[in-house]
Amino acid sequence: MAPLSHQREIESAIRRTPRRWLVTGSAGFIGSHLVEALLRLDQLVVSLDNFATGHRENLAEVRASVGEDAWARHRFIEGDITDFGTCRNACAGIDIVLHEAALGSVPRSIAQPLATHAANATGFLNVLDAARQAGVKRFVYAASSSTYGDHAELPKREHTIGKPLSPYAVTKYLNELYAEVYGRCYAMETIGLRYFNVFGARQDPLGAYAAVIPRWVSQMLEGLACVINGDGETSRDFCYIANVVQANLLAATTDNSAAINEVYNVAFGEATTLNLLHGLIAGTLTSRKPELSVAPAIYADFRAGDVRHSLADIDKARRLLGYSPTHGVRTGLLEAIDWYLRSAG
Ligand SMILES: NC(=O)c1ccc[n+]([C@@H]2O[C@H](COP(=O)([O-])OP(=O)(O)OC[C@H]3O[C@@H](n4cnc5c(N)ncnc54)[C@H](O)[C@@H]3O)[C@@H](O)[C@H]2O)c1
Repeated sequence: MAPLSHQREIESAIRRTPRRWLVTGSAGFIGSHLVEALLRLDQLVVSLDNFATGHRENLAEVRASVGEDAWARHRFIEGDITDFGTCRNACAGIDIVLHEAALGSVPRSIAQPLATHAANATGFLNVLDAARQAGVKRFVYAASSSTYGDHAELPKREHTIGKPLSPYAVTKYLNELYAEVYGRCYAMETIGLRYFNVFGARQDPLGAYAAVIPRWVSQMLEGLACVINGDGETSRDFCYIANVVQANLLAATTDNSAAINEVYNVAFGEATTLNLLHGLIAGTLTSRKPELSVAPAIYADFRAGDVRHSLADIDKARRLLGYSPTHGVRTGLLEAIDWYLRSAG
């Protein structure tokens, strides 16, 4: 089946049955895209964020893009998932939770392990238990490829993980353990999505913990040299945001009983080295701004806690969820470029 017709089929199935959704982390990168997709599909959406790393402008962009009629089906709660009362309030009357709120970034977790644990472990358990108490039908949550830790096997398959390499990885694995146990003890329906290096519009380019693609795009547009940690042959399976939205919608609505209470790799299934990525971003930007002169990259030390290679086997998500990614790195960069150029002013 062609990916685009597949995508339309998923969307029309959701449109036929309006549900009440809670999206946590909605002012962030991934959460804001989920809210946008759901509002476009005529759903009722409650969303929650404390703006720890998210931005009001992301929600304003969603509002402008979906229009006032759709926006009227959205209620935003400014609140912190480390507060159980906030989570209970947010989960009241909800059918499906898409839990994205967390403090991302491996280096941040090494610098701030307590804050990371509070949001990603305690906060996660608060949302999970509030969802249980509210009788939520399905709990889909952002897991992470960092759970593969020091296991060297490539491509990464869901059942084989190694030891965590950072506090962030510990919290994300803990999420999986709790979700599994809540499935067992309370018959909750949970699905974990192990995202691999997601990128796209609204991903924050600024700050010490910015992800590589928005950081490099912004540095190239400012005429600065990008820093490559290590020799540049470190590789990642970069996954465009549209693929992540698709995986969430599939996980939230699948009626395949074998697919539930499982975790899935969500990626494109292709490794890109940092050296190649640098060239791809430079090529995409100069195709739109031929006058741009991109400085050669500067090479620095490897970063603590980083894994050398990351590549996903996405067969499980394909088989059980019907996941069929629509965008690779090149097509994702091309689709996101207008946003990058607009947001850089
Ligand atoms: N972006 C990636 O490549 C990637 C990869 C693997 C996993 N993930 C996971 O996906 C999820 C979304 O990541 P993202 O890239 O959109 O990051 P993001 O930082 O843009 O979004 C996270 C959102 O959660 C909010 N948040 C943080 N702590 C909170 C708290 N205590 N209470 C309420 N809200 C809180 C932030 O303000 C932010 O808006 C996270 O769980 C992250 O760990 C992301």
